[in-house]
Amino acid sequence: MCGIVAATARREVSEILLEGLRRLEYRGYDSAGMALIDNEQHLQLHRQLGKVAELERAQAMTPHHGCVGIAHTRWATHGEPSAANAHPHISHDRVALVHNGIIENHATLRAELRERGYEFNSQTDTEVVVHLLHTYLVAGDSLLDALKSTAARLEGAYAIAAIDAQNPDEVVATRAGSPLVVGVGIGENFLASDQMALRQVTDRFIFLEEGDTVRITATELSIWDEAGQLVERPRTDVPDAVESVELGDFEHYMLKEIYEQPRALAATLGAEGEKRIEDARFGEGAGAIFDRVQSVQIVACGTSYHAGLVARYWLEELAGIPCEVEVASEFRYRKRAPHPGTLLVTVSQSGETADTLAALRGQMADEFVASLVIANVDHSSLVRESDLVFLTRAGAEVGVASTKAFTTQLVAFLMLTAVLGRRHALGEAAERELLNALHRLPDMVQETLSRDADIKKLSEQFILKQHALFLGRGIQYPIALEGALKLKEISYIHAEAYPAGELKHGPLALVDAEMPVVAVAPGDELLEKLKSNLEEVRSRGGELYVFADRNAGFTDEPRVHVLQMPSCPEVLKPAIYTVALQLLAYHVAVQKGTDVDKPRNLAKSVTVE
Ligand code: G6P
Repeated sequence: MCGIVAATARREVSEILLEGLRRLEYRGYDSAGMALIDNEQHLQLHRQLGKVAELERAQAMTPHHGCVGIAHTRWATHGEPSAANAHPHISHDRVALVHNGIIENHATLRAELRERGYEFNSQTDTEVVVHLLHTYLVAGDSLLDALKSTAARLEGAYAIAAIDAQNPDEVVATRAGSPLVVGVGIGENFLASDQMALRQVTDRFIFLEEGDTVRITATELSIWDEAGQLVERPRTDVPDAVESVELGDFEHYMLKEIYEQPRALAATLGAEGEKRIEDARFGEGAGAIFDRVQSVQIVACGTSYHAGLVARYWLEELAGIPCEVEVASEFRYRKRAPHPGTLLVTVSQSGETADTLAALRGQMADEFVASLVIANVDHSSLVRESDLVFLTRAGAEVGVASTKAFTTQLVAFLMLTAVLGRRHALGEAAERELLNALHRLPDMVQETLSRDADIKKLSEQFILKQHALFLGRGIQYPIALEGALKLKEISYIHAEAYPAGELKHGPLALVDAEMPVVAVAPGDELLEKLKSNLEEVRSRGGELYVFADRNAGFTDEPRVHVLQMPSCPEVLKPAIYTVALQLLAYHVAVQKGTDVDKPRNLAKSVTVE
């Protein structure tokens, strides 16, 4: 993961770099650093363990100045989080470099460089890159050529940006497997891992392609492709962000984003009153592609994977289309038998997740009819490389635990169910019913949010627990998985989800008074079976927390705590129960005092394997 920002201007850039890092902190936050070239052509370096705020403090105490600089916020892969392992890494006080990704042949390169007399001050894979770059510079290469020669020796995935105190006007960078965007200014130019980092200074961007190398000065900007040809890449003018990434009155981004869901869902749905969902919502030529689709393969990671698991029920039950769902890190390495007529659907909030991207890129020739991505970030790699695109309109999601991105992905999948379903098992009336139900979703979520105080009260019972079990049946099983994931991510309580029918095949052995059991009981056709499963828990002394449809017949009794949920159409239940479980996890984490928006060891965008 990690976030990169770089700037070359005629003005002081330290504040631009720091603001960029603040906006990139979702990519990693265990250490941060910044290198500037000052007026005397010296490198000025700050590196701090901890969040970007620590780097800001260091810069405030000992201000460094410069019009050219690079900065980095880190999520450790090689080497523990520490100031010594933080980027930028430097070689001979001359060249400084930041890196996002993993260099797989770092051990071989380190041995070679050691033999040539280079000393290593960190445990990172990155430090080999800066020393290698230095070898070419001292051999007389320009900074650009030195970077190209360095990149040719690297195996792995990376985005790299470098500066050289002896070439004090320029920044060079290259990408292979990790994102990098150029921000085009007026008399100044920038680079970053994500355009969001640069929105404060420009709205004009050039998204680099795989293998591109770029050189920027305050007034010049040149790009070379993988083959070394000078190329023109299209410039994209991105209008002002639709919504701010300010916290407003909320204590945490996660809570803000949970509360933004009614608006995000409505924006993703689009105008009310539409009679049908047009194929074109999925991109140009979608209709002709959908006509050929006989089955669907969904691939994703984390919370996005859970959205895919929910979608399988809709695609099979409502649309009548066979559907497989797999985590990207498994899918990409599995030897697969081709499924003729299958649509590959990747799902990703960020559009940059390394395994999901590799799954898309690794498809065999003719394996799929086409690829569709459901993503929240426009211009991201998955968006640019997929045949069809559905953009969720969740707006920027800052909290590491995904909330509004997930529920908007569910909306996208219901819309996909409609467009594919009308070609298969979904009749006209059923499609209309689905659409009408969908437009009620923002209000139903709003109503669920009004249960916040009750959920907070329930959450108090979890604070001292070490473990929790989540149960669901049918389409609510993936919701139980998502509820457990939310709780473990941000409260560090070990949480597992099981399909309730599996209870007696193992997890029941864990049930005692110390193990809270959360059940998602929406009152569908599996309700009676779920009730028997819950009795099994109760009769073993377990404490039950049941999120139940208010018509499902659950009431509070000793060791059974019921949170009455609004009644709503079946297709909306996965989303509204998720919202309730998001609030549960949030309140448990707040009371435990964890860092809700930036939980330990995690990052929002996982751009390494
Ligand atoms: C990380 C995030 C999760 C997210 C997952 C997949 O693990 O912390 O919140 O669900 O990556 O990310 P994506 O951007 O592909 O949805």
